[in-house]
Amino acid sequence: MTHAPAPAPAPEPDPALDLAGLRDLAVRMATEAGALVRDGRPERVEVAATKSSAVDVVTRMDAASEELLRRILATERPDDAVLGEEGGSTAGTSGLTWVLDPIDGTVNYLYGVGPYAVSVAVVTGAPDPARWTVLAGAVHDVPGARTWSAARGAGATLDGAPLAPRPAAELATSLVGTGFGYVAERRAAQARVLAQVLPRVRDVRRLGSAAVDLCLVASGALDLYYERGLNPWDMAAGALVAQEAGLVVTGLRGASATAQMTVAGRPGTVEELVRILEEADADQGA
Ligand code: IPD
Ligand code: CA
Repeated sequence: MTHAPAPAPAPEPDPALDLAGLRDLAVRMATEAGALVRDGRPERVEVAATKSSAVDVVTRMDAASEELLRRILATERPDDAVLGEEGGSTAGTSGLTWVLDPIDGTVNYLYGVGPYAVSVAVVTGAPDPARWTVLAGAVHDVPGARTWSAARGAGATLDGAPLAPRPAAELATSLVGTGFGYVAERRAAQARVLAQVLPRVRDVRRLGSAAVDLCLVASGALDLYYERGLNPWDMAAGALVAQEAGLVVTGLRGASATAQMTVAGRPGTVEELVRILEEADADQGA
């Protein structure tokens, strides 16, 4: 049997980098784009296009928000690469990549229900969750008008106030966030996994924005979170906020958090959820 080669370790960031400055820029970008998304929301939001399925939608505001984020970067960080949900990849020369989700929770934005957010992160190494090191990031919850941010090694904050680590809840009394993909086959598999999780926890929430889910675990408003199928832009900033708040963010079977599976929670309980997900093969198949 052949094994895939182990992925290269995530790179150590250049110590000369101004991580606090990168975090400040991420906060500014997420907040400015968040104001555009909030102030520019028409009474009736129209679907502009669809992506992986008929329910995977894009609105005009997804494009406008990403354009604003890219305009700021063109002025402030012209040598950095960009990976955006709507605009794809733009090459750079600095070794840093900005990973942008202009509206995370587009379906919530469409309906005007639940959280939706602008997520901005800057990473070093390949812009791939299995190989990158996230340096700084910010998640601006648009309806909640609040911003989480973090810089590597410097902790996480909500609107500037440090997030204090909280004790882990028992699995049986844990409130668990999760999310579902846009393709029917994936959703059927996710429903089978959910049937294993739901009887063992307090309850499950599907809030509709992975970036906010990760930040809510960091804030203690959710105890645990798991999801299969996250894109790099869904998780980059939120995963750093969660890690810097003292949480474990991981994949299954010793892997790091990737599209295959992302699990977040406090040490002590997260391992139990990982075990249930492994037994359910939540990282396999569709
Ligand atoms: C989605 C949201 C959702 C998650 C999906 C994501 P989008 O991002 O984060 O909560 O369940 O996996 O794709 O499409 O709204 O940017
Ligand atoms: Ca997203």
